[in-house]
Parts: sequence; structure tokens; C-alpha cells
Amino acid sequence: MSIVVRRLQKSYGTQSVLKSVSESFAEARISVLLGASGCGKTTTLRCIAGLERPSGGEIAIAGRTVYQATPPIWIAPERRHVSMVFQSYAIWPHMTVFENVALPLRAAGIKGERARDTVMETLRLVGLETFAPRSATQLSGGQQQRVALARAIVSEAPVILMDEPLSNLDAKLRVEMRVEIRALQRRLGRTILFVTHDQEEAMSIADTVYLYHAGTVIQRGAPKDLYDRPATRHAAEFLGRANIIADYQWQMGASGAVFALPGGVTLPAALAQAPHPGELLCIRPEKWRVREAGAPRSIAGRVAEASFVGNRTEYRIDTPFGQMSAVQLDAGPRRPGDIVGIEVAADDIRVVGA
Ligand SMILES: Nc1ncnc2c1ncn2[C@@H]1O[C@H](COP(=O)(O)OP(=O)(O)OP(=O)(O)O)[C@@H](O)[C@H]1O
Ligand SMILES: [Mg+2]
Repeated sequence: MSIVVRRLQKSYGTQSVLKSVSESFAEARISVLLGASGCGKTTTLRCIAGLERPSGGEIAIAGRTVYQATPPIWIAPERRHVSMVFQSYAIWPHMTVFENVALPLRAAGIKGERARDTVMETLRLVGLETFAPRSATQLSGGQQQRVALARAIVSEAPVILMDEPLSNLDAKLRVEMRVEIRALQRRLGRTILFVTHDQEEAMSIADTVYLYHAGTVIQRGAPKDLYDRPATRHAAEFLGRANIIADYQWQMGASGAVFALPGGVTLPAALAQAPHPGELLCIRPEKWRVREAGAPRSIAGRVAEASFVGNRTEYRIDTPFGQMSAVQLDAGPRRPGDIVGIEVAADDIRVVGA
């Protein structure tokens, strides 16, 4: 039940919201669409579900074309066999929690004990089993969102589209639900498209992340690959924090490049090829090691800020080539004003597009 979109376009008036998106979302995997507000994530889901008519391109679900611009093909939403959890969860206020979740089963003609067991098991999964007889209006926003999630899961639809399904949950539950959705996915083997603008949520839940920017997918990959090898500065900064260095000169040597930075600093980097003009150096904060001043091979810097945040310390360190962010797991006794030596491994230096 893979989902393939080819040259998918959607415009509202003169505004082009999806600009020729061509992607393949794998069967029985969690594909996460990640990007800033307004970049076209919800529009992509709505086009796949058939709630929105694209302006051009093609959509196929499990090998069946459900939309095509020319010659025109249009399969109605209810015949696409997808279920969707909306950003604004649509649950029925006049029904109980149990009845809300049982709805898709009723529609599929599943009744009696089998329906009851399935509903209760699904409610247990989202932590709402004791709420089954309650009226849906007597729930908090987060609880209502879990009902919506349960309703999408309970149906036998092989494809589930989830539009920010965790956005109304508190932080702790949100993290728990990520794990639940992944476990559920492994058990049921559904094809899930999951939309979020939270990079941590995206990386923790995805098999593959599709990074959107202004109506196009700018990069796709397994979470770790995307985090470790962002193609551009935008991708690097959207997926986490990044130190970007624009002012450098380079020379290729036997074991990679050697970068010359302002202040006479040299930085060896394990690169297979020379950087292209305009490309930038990118170093993740956790890749810097903060050591004592004068440590062998280290670069001298001065601590500008040090914040202890429980399991790690976050530093801002002034260097001749700019202020660097550094994160250390061991809370070293460094204070603002301290002179330190910072160090980064040659294969933790990336070159990214501007
Ligand atoms: N019915 C509509 N009419 C006009 N413009 C629309 C309509 N629906 C969406 N848009 C515009 O299309 C763009 C993409 O919207 P979309 O809802 O896909 O963004 P999104 O990535 O889901 O953002 P968010 O993270 O805020 O939910 C936005 O600029 C939005 O204003
Ligand atoms: Mg949206």
C-alpha cells in the first residue's frame, strides 16, 4: 500500500502551495512530512485523501491511480481506503467515547463482541479504557485527540494519514504516544503518513522524514542520515541546532580538506571532495568537545554563556571565527569568562549548501 505522488501541484488562485512534489511513501512504514507552518504538509495529506482536488500531477495508492490531471482520473475519498486524523480532531459530541471509536467498525459492518473487544483494546492503547462510557464532551482537548487517534487506528484502513495528531497533548503524553504509534505500526503494518512541524517528534517516529520547504520536498532520508548529512543550511537548522561557518579557505590533502579559519585556526575535515563555491561548514553543537585551555589539538575560546539544563550544559563560546554553540553531557565547572580549548573530530565537520 505504498503511496506515490508525481509532479503533484496545488494552487489557490495565484498562490502555488505545492510545486511539483514527486515522492514515494513506503508501504507499512511511517513517513513523516516535516516543515514549517504553511509549507504544504496538510495540503499534501488532503490531496492524497481526496479532500482536496490537486491542480496537476498524479496520485497512486497501492498501485491504483486515484487522481490524475490528464487524462482525468478522480476516485472519490470514500473509495480510497484511507483514514485520517485531523489537526482539529472531529469527534461526535452526542456520542460516548466508546461509540465514537466504534463508528468506523459499524460502517464496515463489524458488530457485537468482536467490535467491542477491538474498541476496548484500542482505547486501552491510547490510555482511555476507563473513559469508554463517558460522553465525548466531558473530555479535555488532549483526551479528545486520543479518541480521534483511536478512531483512525481502529478502522481496518491500510493507509492512515495523521495531521499533527499529538499537538494537543502535554509533553509527557506526547512522548509516550510516539512510542505507542511506533509499536502499533510494527504490530499492524499500516502505511502511515504523519505530519508534524516538530523535528524531534519527526525524527523519533519516522522511518523516513520528508523535509518540506515552501511547497517542495527539499530532502528526504532516514532520521539519522538527515540529521547527520543535511544538504543545505536550512535543512541543518530545521533538524536541530547547527554552527555555520561561512568565512574559510581550504586546501585538499591526502586525508581530506584542511580549512583555514580567521585567527590562524586550522581545522582538518574528512571530506571526500572539495567544497563548492558558496558552501558552508556545519558543526552540530554536541560535536564540539569542551576541554581545558591549551589541550593538545584544541582551539582556544572564551566561554560567553554556560547554562546548566539538567542532563547537559549548553555553552556559547567565543572564538576567532565566531561564537560557537556547544553541548556537553558532563556538567563541567566552566563559567563565563573561562578560557577553554574546543575540539571537533575530522569526520564531524559537514559541508552544506547555502
Ligand atoms: N483553502 C485554502 N485557500 C487558500 N489558501 C489555502 C487554503 N488552504 C491552505 N492554503 C494555503 O496553503 C499554504 C499551505 O497550507 P497547509 O495547510 O498545507 O500548510 P501546513 O504545512 O499544513 O502548515 P501548518 O503547519 O501551519 O499546519 C498556506 O500558505 C495556506 O495559507
Ligand atoms: Mg497543517
